[in-house]
Amino acid sequence: MKIAVIGLGYVGAVTGSCLVDIGHQVTLIEKNLEKVETFNAGISPISEPGLTDLIVRGLTSGNLKAIGDGATEFLAADLVIVSVGTPTDPATGKPDLSSIVNVAQELGIALKTRTGTLKIAIASTVPPGTTEGIVRKYFDQEGIPQDKYALAFIPEFLREGSAISDFLHPTRFIIGSRSEVEAQEFMNLRPELADITFLTKTETSEMLKTVENSWHATKITFANEIGRISKSVGVDENEVMELLIADNKQNVSPTYMRPGFAFGGSCLPKDLRSLVFLGQSHGVEIPLLAGITQSNANQIEVAVNQIVSIKKQRIGILGLAFKANTDDLRESPSVTLIERLLGKGFKVQVHDFEVDGAKLFGVNLNTWNQHSHLAENMIADASKLIQESDVVVLAQHNLRYLEILKNLPDDKILVDLTGLTKKSKK
Ligand SMILES: NC(=O)c1ccc[n+]([C@@H]2O[C@H](COP(=O)([O-])OP(=O)(O)OC[C@H]3O[C@@H](n4cnc5c(N)ncnc54)[C@H](O)[C@@H]3O)[C@@H](O)[C@H]2O)c1
Repeated sequence: MKIAVIGLGYVGAVTGSCLVDIGHQVTLIEKNLEKVETFNAGISPISEPGLTDLIVRGLTSGNLKAIGDGATEFLAADLVIVSVGTPTDPATGKPDLSSIVNVAQELGIALKTRTGTLKIAIASTVPPGTTEGIVRKYFDQEGIPQDKYALAFIPEFLREGSAISDFLHPTRFIIGSRSEVEAQEFMNLRPELADITFLTKTETSEMLKTVENSWHATKITFANEIGRISKSVGVDENEVMELLIADNKQNVSPTYMRPGFAFGGSCLPKDLRSLVFLGQSHGVEIPLLAGITQSNANQIEVAVNQIVSIKKQRIGILGLAFKANTDDLRESPSVTLIERLLGKGFKVQVHDFEVDGAKLFGVNLNTWNQHSHLAENMIADASKLIQESDVVVLAQHNLRYLEILKNLPDDKILVDLTGLTKKSKK
């Protein structure tokens, strides 16, 4: 394929050189002419292991070159990859998308005169809505027909320092596009990655890129906070983390990695508080860990607001204990949710397969007694609860409720706080 890569930075230099290596013909478009000159002299504009060799090989083959102005190149290219910078404001976090706007304008000029379909892949990291809301919107405003181009967001996951290997051997190849037909246009860019190619919505792929980097940042910060607390109490921080990551079932795994309702129970809230207290009582600042309890409380508040906004009076809650197959009520988010709704004057009924006030003991019984409304509002038959509710709230990740919800009458509004019904549709 004849490919034009816009932006000769860390991503552009690696992308262009690697694509030549796997058989494509690439022209890099870079407005900084000093970079262009250096590149064409066989000198890498960035320090990246193995890159100079790839550049020299590409230049020698005649299939790789850099130029300052893409106008003529855009007329002949099959595919354009956009890898211009999108820096964010350090104070506000607002991304500067002016380079994307400029590129849309440059490509718009070419699209008006060229023949055939130009494939345009945005690889710069951008917030959701940018590819459609800036690039396609600009083309639409300019009256460029949709059949003149195919547009997609293809996130780039390479890491500096191992960029060539990351580019050539990614874990996934993701094509985000408005339609499958448009996405298919990009399948032949990396046919060798067919088995790990995922097609998704443009906004999902745009979001994913910043989510991934934020996840990496969270992991590093979590490990560092654990390190600081461990050191402050004389525990070997590396050993703690080694043992933590040795568990691939619950610790380093997909477990607990789906958005749902707030956490609760007898262990997570208590032990998190204990760890935060330990750190803070040794003068260690741990804002990530210390912020978790508040974020969890916010999750309950979001649920309250969602239910209130429906403006229906009769609320049926499915699930009282903090998770399925237990009657443990300690710090269950459902209990808080119910109290908040009762406090606002809603008529609330609750069902739980395991909780029976008459059978509770000890701390569970205390929780039950502290929340005297619970007993008055419990209902033993989930179908009856649905019948007598306007809004049915799935508050417990419990597969048994899926069966019951299969036959939810059309006049009932379902609020699934767990994400379970969405997952089951897939
Ligand atoms: N650096 C990484 O490891 C990495 C990894 C994945 C994704 N990304 C994302 O990829 C994008 C590029 O990152 P980078 O680190 O390569 O940026 P960079 O700043 O190193 O390079 C961008 C280049 O684009 C050029 N440019 C800007 N507008 C242009 C235009 N209209 N025409 C021609 N050239 C133009 C700039 O002069 C610059 O040389 C960013 O959105 C970044 O977030 C970066």
